[in-house]
Amino acid sequence: MEPKPVDQLTMDEALADLADLAARIAAANEAYHTRDAPEISDAEYDALKLRNAEIEARFPALKRADSPSDVVGGAVAEGFGKVAHAVRMLSLENAFAEVDVADFVDRVRKYLGHAGPLLFTAEPKIDGLSLSLRYEAGRLVQAATRGDGEVGENVTDNALTIDDIPARVDGAPQVLEVRGEVYMSHADFAALNARQAAAGDRTFANPRNAAAGSLRQLDATITAARPLRFFAYSWGQLSEPLAATQFDAIARLRAFGFQTNPLTSLCDGPEALLAQYRAIEAQRATLGYDIDGVVYKVNDLALQHRLGFRSSTPRWAIAHKFPAELAWTRLEAIDIQVGRTGALSPVARLTPVTVGGVVVSNATLHNEDYIAGRDSRGNTIRPDENGKSKDIRIGDWVQVYRAGDVIPKVADVDLSQRPEGAFPFVFPQVCPECGSPAHREEGDAVRRCTGGLICPAQGIERLKHFVSRGAFDIDGLGAKQIEMFFADPDLPVKTPADVFTLAARDSANPLKKLKNRDGYGETSVAKLFAAIEARRTIPLDRLIFALGIRHAGEAAAGLLARHYGTWGAFEAAMTTAEPGNVAWAELTAIDGVGETLATSLTEAFRNPAERVAIDALVAQLTVLPVAAAASDSPVAGQTIVFTGTLERMTRAEAKARAEALGAKVAGSVSAKTDLVIAGPGAGSKAKEAEKLGIKIIDEDAWLALIGQA
Ligand code: IVH
Repeated sequence: MEPKPVDQLTMDEALADLADLAARIAAANEAYHTRDAPEISDAEYDALKLRNAEIEARFPALKRADSPSDVVGGAVAEGFGKVAHAVRMLSLENAFAEVDVADFVDRVRKYLGHAGPLLFTAEPKIDGLSLSLRYEAGRLVQAATRGDGEVGENVTDNALTIDDIPARVDGAPQVLEVRGEVYMSHADFAALNARQAAAGDRTFANPRNAAAGSLRQLDATITAARPLRFFAYSWGQLSEPLAATQFDAIARLRAFGFQTNPLTSLCDGPEALLAQYRAIEAQRATLGYDIDGVVYKVNDLALQHRLGFRSSTPRWAIAHKFPAELAWTRLEAIDIQVGRTGALSPVARLTPVTVGGVVVSNATLHNEDYIAGRDSRGNTIRPDENGKSKDIRIGDWVQVYRAGDVIPKVADVDLSQRPEGAFPFVFPQVCPECGSPAHREEGDAVRRCTGGLICPAQGIERLKHFVSRGAFDIDGLGAKQIEMFFADPDLPVKTPADVFTLAARDSANPLKKLKNRDGYGETSVAKLFAAIEARRTIPLDRLIFALGIRHAGEAAAGLLARHYGTWGAFEAAMTTAEPGNVAWAELTAIDGVGETLATSLTEAFRNPAERVAIDALVAQLTVLPVAAAASDSPVAGQTIVFTGTLERMTRAEAKARAEALGAKVAGSVSAKTDLVIAGPGAGSKAKEAEKLGIKIIDEDAWLALIGQA
């Protein structure tokens, strides 16, 4: 039976369809990736994914947490099956300074409007790799690495070889996902490296790498021979709650037979947290395994639930990192890299040095002023104590550090060891890639190439952005392939539109077919072209983000798409808006769109070369409208104002919930306001709303409206 056209679906039908599509796509993924036994054709698979994307574009609020459109390739190593996490595996916000800890506690209190006692757990941050273990009816059915947080690798067979991971647990909820860290002890790491070296095999740089390399072995018998351990510290999907507090939930995991960290304790505020941080840091060298900080979590799980999540980190936890490790080495050269928006970034080429177990040979030098010791007005400044500006010269001894996985940074320079005749570094005034002038705007630390699309470096970086995850996200067309196609004389991809003519150009070229190139074959080319075809239909928000216009990130693209709805309306507005006219006023009135973004957008649409590229791209596409109001939330698309005192939640919390339901929260009442929620003490705003005839409700009615009474 032909499925019903997407534009005729009711909300309930859409919901059922999305569930059905998620299951069918997951089954197809499993058959293809895990069992190497595809059950449907690529075209059928693409049709399922396309329908899923179309329904999501029409009903954004119905998008599932495990939406197949968020399942991306590339993040997962080939050879392991992909596993979509039922609950995303998030990361933690980092704190480095003591004040960050007090700030964290303050923010939690403010968000919750909580003045009374508040407990936190403090526990070591284990430096290993995270793993999610899914138990059903007490049996381990799946172990998955974090991957990109949404999709990980299926490493069940390997996890079963780890002594700390029970194959069965008694008395557990029907569905229990235990999360924690796989790690290797110092002693086991040293012994493993000694064995590897004796056998002439590769040795590992540090215990973390050894743990990751050992867990991700396609042959589970190799993992079995590696001494891995596991600490449980969190959970994913549960069929019933484990406890009312973090501390008790961890105690239950311990009772189920998991190892939990013995240094986990309860603290009642910033001072107690810092005391625990120092106590754990003091034991760091003798623990016998690597830790890189202390994690603080709100203890009360009901409060954790209220605090919820930002896009990729929980509001209820923070990782207080130990200071980064430092090392001194020589600065051999300074290269200038040109980014997507033309920014010229200085990169230090270093004599390789080991920092925190990893060999570092490149590091960022931040910007022109940092190296030259000049401020934005050109005045020379000496290296200052807070490290703002350094006067760094080629040949100098510099100190580098690595914090987590971020790119290494140059932290300091030793002027006493400066070689004779070292000259100040002259920062280029023209783009090293295309020769266009590179300008610095007043007050901006960054110098930018003005070449725009004629600059190959910008071109290639823009293309990488274009195919990136939140943008077109084309399977089989990542940064590596973009570099290859960009330089390809026979099948070049220089602009986004070229991506969509790739298949036609390849078929028109009888010689030098892509399928005959190194790394390609009949199937992989067919797959690549199908993946490109599938993206020919794209929701408006993704397209806007993909254009890579400065300041137009994913969130801004979403706001713009929801406001303008269609490509036609958006394009017309960007073409006509200029300060003083109605289109400009409308653009800058969007909550979250400021003058800087508006200027950047309208400049891009008015720039003739950019415009040619944008038009050529859009001519290749079907742009799906993004409906602001099409949602099952009663407040989606509405502009809401909170006024007076809220009694059941704080303003920040109310705002976050309303926004999660698709509403726009404004600070003042205007003719555009749809609804005012007035608590006790509401004053002028409520009066203004009354005057304008805008609906006013109290907090209880609001909670009833959004189904949270
Ligand atoms: S809690 C919602 N607790 O750190 C976040 N994470 O930087 C749940 N990690 O991806 C994570 N020790 O791999 C938590 N005691 C601990 C941890 C810990 C190590 C890792 C984990 C996470 C990463 C975030």
